[in-house]
Amino acid sequence: MCGIVGTVSDKNNIIPILLDGLKTLEYRGYDSAGLSYLKDGNLIINKVEGRVKALEQKIEKNSISHIGIAHTRWATHGKVNEINAHPHQVGKITIVHNGIIENYNKLKHKLKDKGYNFKSESDTEIAAGLLDYYFKKYENIDKTIQKFMKKVDGSYAICMLLENDPNTIYVIKKDSPLIIGQGKNENYIASDVPAILKYTKNYYILEDYEYGKITKNNIKIYDKEGNILKKQLKEYKGSSATSDKGTYEHYMLKEIFEQNTTIRKTVNPYINSINDLLTLPDLTKYERIDIIACGTAMHAGLIAKYLFEQYSNTKCEVFLASEYRYQNNFLNNKVLSIFISQSGETADTLAALKKVKEKNYDTLGIVNVKESSIARTLDKVLYTEAGTEIAVASTKAYTAQIALLSVLALSTAYRKKQIKEEKVNKILEEFRSINQTIIPVLENIKTYENIAKEIYQKNDIFYIGRGLDYALAMEGSLKLKEISYIHSEAYAAGELKHGTISLITKDTPVFASATNKIINSKTISNLKEVISRGAKCYLITDKDIEDENFKQIIKIKKVSMFLKPILTIIPYQLIAYYTAKLKGCDIDKPRNLAKSVTVE
Ligand code: AGP
Repeated sequence: MCGIVGTVSDKNNIIPILLDGLKTLEYRGYDSAGLSYLKDGNLIINKVEGRVKALEQKIEKNSISHIGIAHTRWATHGKVNEINAHPHQVGKITIVHNGIIENYNKLKHKLKDKGYNFKSESDTEIAAGLLDYYFKKYENIDKTIQKFMKKVDGSYAICMLLENDPNTIYVIKKDSPLIIGQGKNENYIASDVPAILKYTKNYYILEDYEYGKITKNNIKIYDKEGNILKKQLKEYKGSSATSDKGTYEHYMLKEIFEQNTTIRKTVNPYINSINDLLTLPDLTKYERIDIIACGTAMHAGLIAKYLFEQYSNTKCEVFLASEYRYQNNFLNNKVLSIFISQSGETADTLAALKKVKEKNYDTLGIVNVKESSIARTLDKVLYTEAGTEIAVASTKAYTAQIALLSVLALSTAYRKKQIKEEKVNKILEEFRSINQTIIPVLENIKTYENIAKEIYQKNDIFYIGRGLDYALAMEGSLKLKEISYIHSEAYAAGELKHGTISLITKDTPVFASATNKIINSKTISNLKEVISRGAKCYLITDKDIEDENFKQIIKIKKVSMFLKPILTIIPYQLIAYYTAKLKGCDIDKPRNLAKSVTVE
């Protein structure tokens, strides 16, 4: 989603720093880009619709500057075009902004009454207008920012240049991440540490309703009353976002193949013995677990629901974070709310987390990015060790999430005496030797490529399953939609005949996994029903089935239910990948999507 970079230096070298930062943030997804810098006392603004490369070409050759701000925009208010791209300048104020100004319409009318005119459809231009209005009124930047924070509803990470103030960048933050990097005679601002990692590892985190003034050798951070704050300087421990693609054609493919390592790395501290397993948090005092997340992370929650309910006899509900916020959540001290997020910055998940925290109920998180907003807000965090995930379509973060949730459910089942020691030891051994079961699934490439050839020109594809396999169908379908733009639907296998089977016609592809011996035969009967109506069925299973009615049967090794989802999802990930590749799609950066969804 939108990205921010800013820097002020004692040298005239900031344009490459801004462009480097924007390039690092590209993977988050955006549709236009822009930057603004001071050259010989004049403020230059360059903007483009499209890629950072185009912005780079637009900047006048040999331009030098010591202060500037830059942005990648993912449209929320107003079309994707140059006018709506950031920075926005109104009067004495020039800003880049991440987030959404929710009351922008009301503010726009008020500002228009005061004589302001706006060029764009963007809410950010209104924010710039409001800042300019207060600055003209108070002639004091602190008062201006404090008043702005009082009047604006919504989320914002703002980076601002002020006319006649050539040495300071101002920042303001609420509900959208913003950090300030400390360098040597050079300081930085970014929405995400990796954007400035090439230059510094040391940074301050801005919290909600804080603002800052940054010069080349001074960083001052204030609370909303204008009191100066003593903040802790942090050192970034994560890896760079621009990790190499190596020999892989796309990050997504690389990340799919990394799963063997990332799963192991994530569960490693817990799988050597039952004693290690019991170092995971004890959840036995809770009568209910609520899992709250978005997209693929929510799908990981559905896997956990199955495992918690079936094996540890713990009631578990899964919620979409965007819905959870506006529901009656029936919380009490016996409910643990678990939040799952790769980025740790998803606005809906963060807002739902804040809702639970405000009521003082217990929270636990499964998060990939350390020190992210969600990680910092949680009571307790268990980190997935997936490393930086660049491709918009989540793969290795998802399997790391389900692996971690699986061992958590296993430890809860053991603590509640719902599972025998011998069985637990067997499952731990399966985790330790996951290489042997996962590698054959990863290497079955020819099969996935052939299936992709059969489906890439289709318009509608179905994914069905029961229980865990239904949760996997949802994730398989989402992967295909995201990157190949083929419409697909996930259905509970038994539900198809209650309406949707009317859409099955000759040659409609239907994918299913049947990995649970109790309900396998039911799913297979449902597949036979669609085959009778002309569908072409692809089945993933650990069962020994030979049946020529299926177009393809993909075999996975027999493992316990705690590992099966990991093995089953990989064919779905790779089929989606090869299908998107045949269609010539922009696999790592699918249209309209963002890696980190920082607006609600
Ligand atoms: C996954 O492929 C998607 N890009 C998306 O659904 C994602 O999982 C969702 O936006 C949640 O993101 P998070 O894990 O960073 O919170």
